[in-house]
Amino acid sequence: MRRFLSVLRASSPAEARRALPLCRPYSLLQPQQEQQHDQTGDRPSFGIAFDIDGVILRGRTPIGGSPQALRSLYTDDGILKIPFLFLTNGGGVPESKRASELSRLLEVDISAPQVVQGHSPFKRLLSRFENELIVAVGKGEPAEVMSEYGFKKVLSMDEYASYFDEIDPLSQYKTWTVRQITDNNSNSKPRDPHPRFDAHRSKVQAAFIVSDPVDWGRDIQVLCDILRSGGLPGKENGNQPPLFFASDDLEYQAVFPSERLGMGAFRIALESIFNRINQNPLQYTSFGKPNPFVFQNAEAVLKQLRSNIFGMMLTENVREMEGSSFKTIYMIGDNPSVDIKGAKKAGRPWFSILTRTGVFRGKENHSEFPADLVVDTVEEAVDYILRREST
Ligand code: G3P
Ligand code: MG
Repeated sequence: MRRFLSVLRASSPAEARRALPLCRPYSLLQPQQEQQHDQTGDRPSFGIAFDIDGVILRGRTPIGGSPQALRSLYTDDGILKIPFLFLTNGGGVPESKRASELSRLLEVDISAPQVVQGHSPFKRLLSRFENELIVAVGKGEPAEVMSEYGFKKVLSMDEYASYFDEIDPLSQYKTWTVRQITDNNSNSKPRDPHPRFDAHRSKVQAAFIVSDPVDWGRDIQVLCDILRSGGLPGKENGNQPPLFFASDDLEYQAVFPSERLGMGAFRIALESIFNRINQNPLQYTSFGKPNPFVFQNAEAVLKQLRSNIFGMMLTENVREMEGSSFKTIYMIGDNPSVDIKGAKKAGRPWFSILTRTGVFRGKENHSEFPADLVVDTVEEAVDYILRREST
């Protein structure tokens, strides 16, 4: 756990200052009596974690007054004044790229450390698989995500599958795949004439489901091949290599009116099939919300953001400030069984707020995972927080 926290932090105060958005000591921005502070007098004692899909965005469209809500966390000059981050189970692109995209869509300055995605905890596995052949599965740029974390021998599922003739007997019928490969803007790579790794000799040491898989049929087939054979498709059975999922969401809110199947649904499909064709049941680890360590990590990132807001990165007080607790961290989410359950399991200082803009649409609170507060939109949630913290 300790190592996990440290890998998400910048390695030096100077690096942290470069990585984080333009900040100013909070005490210079707000009179002390206007906001809740901890016992030392002038630190903001709260932070906010925003879910993305179904709270901030639907597809790529901002919802629930999210741009206005976020803007209220900055000064008129666009300087961050309240520590906040995005805590999403989604992903598929490096955090730096997602931060740029969010900045553009939401018209505020968001830095990479403010984006914690489902796959961000994969960094903690670097020491184990840094120089091992691994396969990265999912939409977007799964191999680039893992390479950016430092993994040296990573192949996307698209590239890996392309080294095995006829591994997917249905590929000839997938005209969309052919189109994708010939599209210059595509992230799918055609077969490399000089492969970097000999996929027929080197065993895959682990498979990472980085983001929602695109071609479920092929991905389930090739994952079963990798996992049953011990890392070499087409060979005899062997010990199952480790399998990691970035999250386990059964459903999530996208653009379509009703929820869409998420990574948890893919996991169920893979597991059901694997367990029917293999003697030993599938072994796997899922990251993402509602795991309490995701919330603990978010708290650590928020503390670092708060340190930066105070502009005290070079003083001896940094460690003290990073260590000091928030009185409240607000989790604003749309999915009771993921966002609210996770915040509740994490316990203090988490306070859960459920919006009605995504998976949850109920009138009353959710019966199984009731939130501390239910509101219509994220804008309403932020208004509530700022009012509560200023009294
Ligand atoms: O694929 C995205 C989905 O699993 C959930 O994203 O932002 O609601 O945690 P989010
Ligand atoms: Mg959501």
